[in-house]
Amino acid sequence: MKYISPIETKTWKKLEKHYQATKDIHLKTLFENDKDRFEKFSLNTESLFIDFSKNKINEETLGLLLELAVEMELPEAIESMFSGEKINQTEHRAVLHTALRNFSDNPVMESGQDVMPLVQKVRKQMKTFSQKIHSGDWKGYSGKQIKHIVNIGIGGSDLGPVMVTEALKPFKVQGIESHFVSNVDATHIAEVLQKIDPETTLFLIASKTFTTQETMTNAHTARKWFLENGGSEETVKKHFAALSTNKSGVESFGIDPANMFEFWDWVGGRYSLWSAIGLSIALNIGYDNFEELLKGAHEMDMHFKKSPLSDNAPVLLALIGVLYNNFYKAETEAILPYDQYLHRFAAYFQQGNMESNGKSVDRNGKAVTYQTGPIVWGEPGTNGQHAFYQLIHQGTKMIPCDFIAPAVSHNPIGDHHQKLLANFFAQTEALMNGKSEKEARQELEQKGLNSDEIEKLLPFKVFKGDNPTNSILMKKITPKSLGSLIALYEHKIYVQGIIWNIFSFDQWGVELGKQLAGLILPELEHDNPVIGHDASTNGLINEYKRLREE
Ligand code: F6P
Repeated sequence: MKYISPIETKTWKKLEKHYQATKDIHLKTLFENDKDRFEKFSLNTESLFIDFSKNKINEETLGLLLELAVEMELPEAIESMFSGEKINQTEHRAVLHTALRNFSDNPVMESGQDVMPLVQKVRKQMKTFSQKIHSGDWKGYSGKQIKHIVNIGIGGSDLGPVMVTEALKPFKVQGIESHFVSNVDATHIAEVLQKIDPETTLFLIASKTFTTQETMTNAHTARKWFLENGGSEETVKKHFAALSTNKSGVESFGIDPANMFEFWDWVGGRYSLWSAIGLSIALNIGYDNFEELLKGAHEMDMHFKKSPLSDNAPVLLALIGVLYNNFYKAETEAILPYDQYLHRFAAYFQQGNMESNGKSVDRNGKAVTYQTGPIVWGEPGTNGQHAFYQLIHQGTKMIPCDFIAPAVSHNPIGDHHQKLLANFFAQTEALMNGKSEKEARQELEQKGLNSDEIEKLLPFKVFKGDNPTNSILMKKITPKSLGSLIALYEHKIYVQGIIWNIFSFDQWGVELGKQLAGLILPELEHDNPVIGHDASTNGLINEYKRLREE
């Protein structure tokens, strides 16, 4: 592949021109001028309905964006990911989270080996283990059944399981309580330890590398607590399991190799919920539901792999995102689920997106001269409406938003869900249409205000609108539809990485802080003043030492 800079493509220049010519056309006008717009700019994947018509695009915009994708060799890039090429070049690794949810009979080759038998073996191990826990065949050291599952992990070894467990709460297996510990702040584990008892608890130490400081610290604290509260070295094997790629690390921690659920270096941390890292999910919702989640993702994988670019949901959402990021200079993107169970969805894709595409060096090792990954954030609606939507409606920044909702609630109480969805539709409409001066004036007149008062208030009452949104609907949040939704966003990240000519599957940027923390830690263990850093860091460390002794 050529690894060309997107801004040097022919299409980029055309897009620049097109942007200049169309940027001031109001979204409202786009709808007025084309009555088929909704049909043209919406699509159905099996589980999801996606309306992308409320975007500042027309057929020419999309045509150019698709041309850019071809010029950036996106079809080849999609093929190389699925076929196990080492596209994570800085770590010399393939990127095969799609193999983890492959349910076709096709082999998936990595370094000349079909990985599917390995994947199937671990799936089977997870299934058997989950069934033993749920049936009560697996007993704790005192003969009691396991009730509490504590997943200890951070980043990709935590956020995915937390997000999915929350999203699929209605599918929870009775009698199992899940807990998640990620922060090295002892408060996190201390709070969880208060809620559990060692006889009925299973700790899952979830770490791809099995070296992450936070996870290993929490894991050792959990082990110590277990040993001090009735457990023994001998019974650790009934209460600790490991989800990792690092066999020797797991063994030296003292976890029975039989309780190790393996995955491989071709699974990126933030793409690992589909792997053994998903054991906490399988234990929470049952293995069959976990497999449904994988199948939902597989459905999206097939859509991504096989659909033409022009009908390809992750591709279209990614390209529209590029339009805003690089031409409209939008800096952020909001993910706004209208479903309380999806309350960690935006946080999950904050890592997914920002750790993947937060890069400033291209695939040739050169500094980029254009914007790459956006800042991703969000909260569930309607809460967000009463918090930060004001800025989206009337602030100075363009914030493209994704609205996500199920048509059917798991909690059909009264008219709650209709009210929720009324807000969803109203927001996307208001963001697009805004309120013109004429409309605002009429409203104020109807309220009986005099002309002086109207003139004073008018500027504040006008909404310019023209704020783009995508709307994603599904029948219900189920393991399958959620799997599909997650995979949609995962593939969007990859597509954008290709367009920006960056590597999306490494994360060197998190290393520096880790290294420095390693150097600073021993300096905090004594009371002598430190002098080896810059004045601010020295000053802060020394002030901390003073405060802790005070
Ligand atoms: O934050 C960096 C990172 O490497 C993430 O990519 C990863 O998800 C997380 O740390 C945890 O890593 P591990 O699973 O190896 O403990």
